[in-house]
Amino acid sequence: MGILDRHKVIEKNATLLLVGSLLVVTIGGIVEIAPLFYLENTIEDVEGMRPYTPLELAGRDIYLREGCYLCHSQMIRPMRDETERYGHYSLAAESQYDHPFQWGSKRTGPDLARVGGRYSDEWQVDHLRNPQAVVPASVMPKYSFLMNQRIEPTYIADLLATNRAVGVPYTDDQIENAAADFVVQADPFGDASGLIERYGDKVNVRNFDGQPELTEMDALVAYLQMLGTLVDFSTFTPDASR
Ligand code: HEC
Repeated sequence: MGILDRHKVIEKNATLLLVGSLLVVTIGGIVEIAPLFYLENTIEDVEGMRPYTPLELAGRDIYLREGCYLCHSQMIRPMRDETERYGHYSLAAESQYDHPFQWGSKRTGPDLARVGGRYSDEWQVDHLRNPQAVVPASVMPKYSFLMNQRIEPTYIADLLATNRAVGVPYTDDQIENAAADFVVQADPFGDASGLIERYGDKVNVRNFDGQPELTEMDALVAYLQMLGTLVDFSTFTPDASR
């Protein structure tokens, strides 16, 4: 019996074909998955990464609530057209504190993974209030109502604690001081030394939306302005041992 004839046996018997296919898929699956069990970590630790400050975390929740991810990705792929437009390709570590991650699958607007610091706060506020006033052909909706939505730190410690429950390494100190840190980040006249001590001196402390009240616009702009700014790519070198 030639090899083709022997193969005919499998092709003619549906049950045998099914069992055979299952066997092949199982072996393929094990080969792909098993090595992951022997790695301590699939995410390379990268200097500069820190959990979000309370205000940024609240801003991130507004970003999710408003569905910004439906039009914006946060993952720069390692291809030349992307890295020239958006900057260094995204690292796994840059999403390690994101629950859920914001890689996205649709780009109606540009990728936002490194939008932090690219524009002024005024630009961000003007653009969010009325995108068409800044980019006439934009299809982005208006979010001017965020200017009027005041926010309080009532549940912010719970939000940090919830993130800790899913693996973000918030310390007791950070959770205990969440409410104070939340308020002081948008108050240029407050004492932000505690916030800086807990999250590092790169934290942006200023009145993000230009209004005296603390609003959702402050939180969202605080979040946007830190995106992609934590890792210093002038000194970053990928760990080649992995
Ligand atoms: C319907 C799709 C859509 C939604 C929803 C949307 N955007 Fe956009 N966004 C766009 C488009 C298109 C552009 C490019 C034109 C422009 O600048 O307005 C853009 C541009 C931007 C930019 C400028 C990026 C750059 O590099 O120039 C930022 C920042 C931004 N959006 C933030 C947001 C945030 C925050 C939200 C949620 C509150 C949001 N967008 C929701 C479509 C959208």
